[in-house]
This record gives sequence, C-alpha cells and structure tokens, in this order.
Amino acid sequence: VEKVFSGVQPTGNLHLGNYLGAIVNFVKMQETHNCIYCVVDMHAITQGVDVWGGPAELARNTREVTAAFIAAGIDPKKHIVFNQSQVAGHAELAWIFNCVARVGWLSRMTQFKEKAGKDRENASVGLYDYPVLMAADILLYRATHVPVGEDQKQHLELSRDIAQKFNNDFGDSIRGHGFNDGQFFPLPEPFITGPATRVMSLRDGTKKMSKSDASDNSRINLTDDADLIAQKIRKAKTDPEPLPSEEKGLENRPEADNLVGIYAALADRHKADVLREFGGGQFSSFKNALVELCVTKLAPIAGEMKRLVADPGHVDSILVDGADRARALADETMRTTMDIVGFIRKR
Ligand code: AQP
Repeated sequence: VEKVFSGVQPTGNLHLGNYLGAIVNFVKMQETHNCIYCVVDMHAITQGVDVWGGPAELARNTREVTAAFIAAGIDPKKHIVFNQSQVAGHAELAWIFNCVARVGWLSRMTQFKEKAGKDRENASVGLYDYPVLMAADILLYRATHVPVGEDQKQHLELSRDIAQKFNNDFGDSIRGHGFNDGQFFPLPEPFITGPATRVMSLRDGTKKMSKSDASDNSRINLTDDADLIAQKIRKAKTDPEPLPSEEKGLENRPEADNLVGIYAALADRHKADVLREFGGGQFSSFKNALVELCVTKLAPIAGEMKRLVADPGHVDSILVDGADRARALADETMRTTMDIVGFIRKR
C-alpha cells in the first residue's frame, strides 16, 4: 500500500482553504493509502514569535489542528496523527538534507520571498530552510503521495530534487546496502486535486485565503459560527455581472470563480454542474445557498472540534500514541540513512 504524508502548521485561524485544499483529501486518501498526518509545530516557529504567538498559543493551536483532523474524519487509530517535534528524525534527516540541498535551489522559493518580505536579512534561517525540513518530513517515512494545496507545489518539487540528489550522491552506498536500483528515497508526488486546490481570499480574488491575512473577513475559519459565516459570505467581494452558465464564463472573474469553486468543493460536485443550477441568477441568491451549504458542512466539524479541545489530555494522548508509531517508522529510515551516509551508530 502506498504511503501518504502531509502536514498542517499550528499557526492559528485554520480556514476553509486549509480544509478544502488539504484536509478533505487527507480524509479521502485514508480509504486507499497508509496515511501519516502531522501537525508541523517545528515549521510553525519559523516566523517571528509575534506570528506563532508564544508557547501557550503554540500548544493550543497544535491541539486545535489535531481536533480539526479528527473532526473532519481522520481516524487516528487506523492511521497516524502526531506532532512533528515529538519525532527527532525530522530534525536529524533535515540536517543531512541541508548538506544535499543547494543554496541556489532555496533562493528560488517564492513562499520564502513572500513571507520574508522586504526585510530578508532579518528572516529566520529556519524560514529559509523550511522546504528542506518539509522534504525530511515526507522522506523520513519514504512517503510517495503528498496531498497539499496548489501553493505547496514548488516545495514538493524541491523535495523531489533533494531525494534525487541524495540517491545520486550516495548511489554506490545505497546499492551496497541492498537497494539494487540505487533508489533509497522515492520521489514524492504532489496530490493536488479537486475544485478548490487554491481557495482565494473573500476580499480579493487574486490573493490566496491565508491564516496570516490581517482581515478576518478574508477567510472562513473552521471555528466560525453560522452568523459569522453568513456575514463573511454576504460581504464577500463579487462583480456586478450575473453568474455565467458555463465554466468558461468564469475566466477573468476571480471572485465569482472562487465562490463557485468553494460551493463545488463543499458539495462534492463539479463547477460546471454548480453553474448549470445557478447560472444566469444573481449573486445574492447564490450566496444564500453558499451560506447554507457552508454552515451545514462546517457546523458539525466546529462542534466536534470544540468538544475535542475541551479535553486537552485526550488530544495529547492521541498525539503521543501517534508519535510512538511514527517514531518506529522514522527510526528505521534513520538507521539505514546513517549507514548509507557512513555515520557510526550503536547496533
Ligand atoms: N488558500 C488555500 N487554498 C488551498 N489550500 C491551501 N492551503 C493553505 N492555504 C490554502 C493548504 O493547506 C495546507 C496547510 O497549510 P499550512 O498551514 O501548512 O501552511 P500555509 O500554506 O502557509 O497556510 P496559510 O493558511 O496560507 O498560512 P500563511 O498565512 O501563514 O501563509 C497546505 O497543504 C496548503 O497547501
């Protein structure tokens, strides 16, 4: 069975983009794959403490993302759910990969440029190195499939480059350790699928919906109640034209395209099918239907999240149990990796 790995940062404000772009696919892939879903707390601290909020907030957000995974339908008994910092292999493999990856590769990462902003000299080394840690996260489990939103595509390509270069650099040693094809690390495939792989801001259809947007009206958080969801969707930016009846009519209408995409993803329908129902009509009636659908889909998740986070001891026990199982897999990869590299270790 193929292995899936993916992660979500516990940086607060988990939103509809995280849910539709990533978590919905996490849930689907459980049927057909062995899945490892990680709350990537070590990634969360790569930006300033003003962004991740300090120790108490980090712990709270870690439990909230865990609760969201479970409330959305991930089964932590059949699959693995844990927080990254509990398994030392992530940091260990990242160091080895730091020595494989090239500065030039990392300098091309658009997310670093966006998040570092103008004051690049002052960005943390961790933020720059983020994609290397991400490659380690995935390859520590030798995972082959990675469900992510569109924005992570470039980082996934870098993970493939790192896996490939490691396999090339250590080819003879890899073969010497019984991997006759010289491929110790698989080249992981991004799994970017569905009508909402890039959910856009409700205030600006050209910007992605994001946790860090200063305007809370730009996103629907998984914990928003029905009134707030209704208010945000009614206020969402649109254009004056009625909805088109065909998908090509959404071209150059980013806000309309986004709302139709959200509807399609939540209803598990195609955009063309949604437009057959709502095309020609005014935005206001489509928005009413979208509010109803959003509330119907998200209210049970929010309710379950609330119930789960009310018992932090239970959430923590899920993370500890998941980490124990993740560590067993990670240790196996690390032992072989150390042998391949030539590091001496206890036998
Ligand atoms: N707008 C989005 N549409 C579709 N998918 C998205 N994802 C994030 N935003 C969208 C996907 O959600 C997963 C988890 O993301 P993350 O928390 O690890 O990091 P991120 O991509 O940095 O998320 P944000 O919300 O956009 O945070 P900020 O504001 O800090 O940049 C990933 O699979 C991601 O693709």
